[in-house]
Amino acid sequence: MVSEGICRRSGRLLSYSVGGFYFKETVMWTRDDLHNLVKEKLSGFLFVAVSNREPYIHTFSGSEIIAEVPASGLTTALDPVMQACGGTWIANGRGEADRKVVDKDNKVMVPPENPRYSLRRVWVSREEEEGYYYGFSNNALWPLCHIAYTRPIFKESDWDNYKKVNEIFAQAVLDEVKDKKAFVFIQDYHLTLLPGLIKERNPDIISAQFWHIPWPNREAFRICPWKEEIIRGLLGNDLLGFHIRYHCNNFLDTVDQTIESKIDWERYEVTSSGKKTGVRPFPISIDFEEISSDAQKKDVDIEIKRMKSRLGLNDEMVGVGFDRMDYTKGIPDRILAVSHFFEKYPEYRGRMVFIQAGVPSRTELAAYKRLDEEVDKLVRDTNERYSKGSWKPIIYLREHLHPITMMALRRMADYCVVSSLHDGMNLVAKEYVASRFDEDGVLILSPFTGASRELTDALLVNPYATDHFAEAIKDALEMPEEERRKRMKKMREVVRENNVYKWAADIITELVKFEFGK
Ligand code: G6P
Repeated sequence: MVSEGICRRSGRLLSYSVGGFYFKETVMWTRDDLHNLVKEKLSGFLFVAVSNREPYIHTFSGSEIIAEVPASGLTTALDPVMQACGGTWIANGRGEADRKVVDKDNKVMVPPENPRYSLRRVWVSREEEEGYYYGFSNNALWPLCHIAYTRPIFKESDWDNYKKVNEIFAQAVLDEVKDKKAFVFIQDYHLTLLPGLIKERNPDIISAQFWHIPWPNREAFRICPWKEEIIRGLLGNDLLGFHIRYHCNNFLDTVDQTIESKIDWERYEVTSSGKKTGVRPFPISIDFEEISSDAQKKDVDIEIKRMKSRLGLNDEMVGVGFDRMDYTKGIPDRILAVSHFFEKYPEYRGRMVFIQAGVPSRTELAAYKRLDEEVDKLVRDTNERYSKGSWKPIIYLREHLHPITMMALRRMADYCVVSSLHDGMNLVAKEYVASRFDEDGVLILSPFTGASRELTDALLVNPYATDHFAEAIKDALEMPEEERRKRMKKMREVVRENNVYKWAADIITELVKFEFGK
């Protein structure tokens, strides 16, 4: 039996099922709930988030300064949380007009249209950025943690700059906190040394870090020449979060192999040099309600018409893929599968179009340049091979699309493909589900994403297996409406419940429990 009711204290909708021996209670977290939780649990604490990528980038548009939102899973997830919590977000200022809009403390209030928190920028020189961001973060740690068969490159000079920039961030955090009580929430692999550095100088800071990418098994991680420093830096945190338990286990295994420590596998805690760190899974998510309601706006209907005419679409079935152009996303594998699909099922030529939207990313790095060339060639070859008349099988939009255009494409799509070779979570999959308020559409999802643990009603397919992948495309196109709706409805329930406010609330609740022994 499933019942619903309103919680008297928070006014939240509760649904609970009574199943013989136990109660299962489901709480829909909202922005206000999170705000209240922060007020209740962290009152008197300054809330400071830290990440490499900033949530708003100021650039020039003619003589005007405009704020752009970058294509990043991390900022997509954290911005609504910061809007709910207030406080300060410290990040690397990289926009050409970033310095123009900050005050003497390098701060600017954001979001620009409705300011709710302050963004404090740190400045990194070109050389430091080369070593810290392009070098150690993205040429070494990124491929090391993803295992997508791109070899990590370890350079001493990159590591030196990585250390320097972590120190710059540490200084900014310490300046921001001064002697206030503070909760510092650090993001990702760019800042592994930061927790150790701030704790050394201000042990009263409470810090948690969320790792947005996979943590590999210990055999993979052991090749990193600076693994010990990285592990010790991360263990400066009170709490360390990964998307899924599998990554927590890999991390604890790596700690066990790398440094002297005591690991409590019951409680998922590490004690090293007298300091305890909790390690927990927190699957990241999105603001489901906001995306679902944005998808229903009139502007999106208008944009659907505009895009259909821009892309020359009539009544073809549509598949979509949205990615940062990254070799972990399985974009060539997906194009090969589309190509194989048209070879195997020629009756679909002229009847289905696959739209690939790709945002350029880390374009200075050789591996990303190679990927760009490979994708260009695969798209060209497929289109040359199967086009007829004005119809071509793949439309490749290699540009930064406006959020309304992305929404229009999600709504137009009979199916959406997420084919990562390895991915911490992948929010594109959750965004597609949230956008389909009509409860239609099929998600084809790689089992190597964190999202596949929750979205079990997607069509799960191994992106390395081209033939299976092509079959999944056919299955998506031919799935009966009733089944499509049943699956989409279930996936929407999962994402609605496990939204980004729950993600942040779970982290804060766990941190408070852990830190204060409650
Ligand atoms: C992944 C990482 C994020 C990063 C994003 C975009 O999602 O986990 O930390 O923000 O990629 O990468 P970029 O290098 O453009 O910041």
